[in-house]
Amino acid sequence: MPSDSALMEASLAALGDRYDGMATELFDRLIADHPHYTPVFLNPEAARERMTSETLEAMLGLAAAEPWVDLAVTNFIDLHHNYADFTAPDYAAWLALVIATMARRAGSDWPEGASAAWQRQADALTAKVATVTRNREVPVRP
Ligand code: HEM
Repeated sequence: MPSDSALMEASLAALGDRYDGMATELFDRLIADHPHYTPVFLNPEAARERMTSETLEAMLGLAAAEPWVDLAVTNFIDLHHNYADFTAPDYAAWLALVIATMARRAGSDWPEGASAAWQRQADALTAKVATVTRNREVPVRP
């Protein structure tokens, strides 16, 4: 039975250049699915590539037990307080959207078990998000 890490890496290789354009599709869907957040997406063209790649990195890092993951989670949660008070379910929905979109784009090339491997790491990442203590210096957005 391959590790989650191995399955995730193999699935990215299978996805190949069908990754191109995915950030645009993901942001269009994310914004459409969360209309109450539309005003906080001020510059999606600037954010979407980095947000997509760092999302994949966080799940890959977690699967590989990389020591930097906890700090990365704290950093992206603090960063997002510049925009809104997103919830753990918001993060879970984004991660599920990313996984489903990769699987759909890869089609029959998507390896067996890859979605489950990504989803296990997504669940673990969401659990971490839920435990990060809010930075009290940042006021809660209305
Ligand atoms: C693992 C999950 C996530 C990661 C790693 C992540 C990472 C990032 C990064 C790197 C940026 C770009 C910042 C910049 O270039 O200055 C960004 C922007 C942003 N993210 Fe996320 N993000 C995640 C989840 C979410 C979720 C769940 C939401 C809301 C439902 C969200 C909403 C936003 C918004 C509103 C922006 C600013 C967009 C704009 O300027 O138009 N993010 N994110």
